[in-house]
Amino acid sequence: MNISLSIIYLIATVSFIVGLKKLGNPTTAKNGNLIAAAGMGLAIAGTIFIHDFEVPPLIYILIGLAILTGSIIGGLMAFKVKMTKMPELVSLFNGFGGSSAALIGLVEFSRDAGDKMQATTIVSGIIIGAITFSGSMIAWGKLNGSLKSVVNIPYHNIVNNLFLIGVIAFAVFMVSTGVNDQVLVGALLASGLIYGILFVLPIGGADMPVVISLLNSLTGIAAAITGVLYSNMVMLIGGILVGSAGIILTIAMCKGMNRTLGAVIFGSFGGTDSASDEDRRLGSIKKTNPSDSAIMMNYASNVIIVPGYGLAVAQAQHVIHELEELLTKKGVDVKYAIHPVAGRMPGHMNVLLAESNVDYSLLVEMEDINSQFKNTDVVLVVGANDVVNPAAHNDPSSPIYGMPILDVENAKHIIVNKRTMNAGYAGIENELFYNDKTVMLFGDAKAALTSLVSELKNM
Ligand code: TAP
Repeated sequence: MNISLSIIYLIATVSFIVGLKKLGNPTTAKNGNLIAAAGMGLAIAGTIFIHDFEVPPLIYILIGLAILTGSIIGGLMAFKVKMTKMPELVSLFNGFGGSSAALIGLVEFSRDAGDKMQATTIVSGIIIGAITFSGSMIAWGKLNGSLKSVVNIPYHNIVNNLFLIGVIAFAVFMVSTGVNDQVLVGALLASGLIYGILFVLPIGGADMPVVISLLNSLTGIAAAITGVLYSNMVMLIGGILVGSAGIILTIAMCKGMNRTLGAVIFGSFGGTDSASDEDRRLGSIKKTNPSDSAIMMNYASNVIIVPGYGLAVAQAQHVIHELEELLTKKGVDVKYAIHPVAGRMPGHMNVLLAESNVDYSLLVEMEDINSQFKNTDVVLVVGANDVVNPAAHNDPSSPIYGMPILDVENAKHIIVNKRTMNAGYAGIENELFYNDKTVMLFGDAKAALTSLVSELKNM
């Protein structure tokens, strides 16, 4: 390989690693993203312009047009997307990554079918790319609500696992016989696409984030395989980084939701759409208002705020910071309790609160804050539901049973802000709302918190 291209790839690789490292902390994350993106830009430019063979001008024009179109569409989508819609965008981008790998495999297969090593790489790229593409599209449809949350396929575990074995057997047959037939390659692609659909369709409720993260990791693996195919070091390393980061995140999320990775890949996924009649017989609730809630917090010595998806929907991150500062000025010790899967994407609450400049040291992870609830005067739950649902501890029949939760029911007083008695993402009732220590502050989070702030200012 050309020495200057090798140097460019080395710089790009270092930038990916430095960028990834910086993404680990909210204060450096933005720079990390820019550094990695600059490295990728450099690698792309190097690949296009530095080579030992002649490239007709038309090819440059086509590549330029493709990059321009992709950049405009991607840029517009990224600028316009709301934070709450971010997981949908990630799903969509995962899908595009997978489809690129599958399409490259389709193009290359006719050239290299005879070479067993190359054919293995190509066939793996086609299958993984196709699964990632169709799986991500189904995940995208589920997240934006255009597809039903859970689609029941009878005996889906057996059907899915048999289908996957069939796809792998088909791929082994193609590589071992060296058959070079576009119809068979098309059939392999189609079987990968069907498996991706079968894989994601039955998944619903609280397990969805794990699947998105797993698909993200598959996109990386598909890119790494393409890197092997073209002996392109930077593509290989970039793919490995995405693949391994995705797997680490998947494992962390499995831990956060108490699922094993094996159960995610081959097992049965939970998920339900609505609260049952049984669920609704949990007793009665107590309503409160901003004035009484403000009094409760004003006289507390410590308050823990539990942010959830509703805080993001209401875009109430700035007013919650104002509330926290006001309470702190009044001598109240305030912290935020962060559940690993609160919201709709990994780190959602951290990103949201960083947007309003909440001091990062006030954000306490679930494992560290759970023991503190019993000594807490008031917990203010804002737009969170599943992540504070005691059914995870108490109800073995619940789809979220076993998921670690924030143990807010141990606090002395609990104020829950949400708009209605509707269920959260997992579609189940929450006995916390019926707890004797709980009062419900109904209303949109931004409006309710704004009223709380003005009540507190008058005290
Ligand atoms: P959820 O369980 O989804 O509950 C959010 C609550 O916010 C709802 O009950 C809703 O009740 C309330 N809400 C909605 N809009 C509101 C508004 N404008 N003002 C006030 N409240 C509002 O949220 P959670 O506790 O954060 O749990 C997250 C769930 O999402 C988990 O099940 C998790 O597994 C899943 N999930 C997580 C991720 C990641 S990676 N974080 C990705 C996908 C799914 P009302 O409608 O009554 O207001």
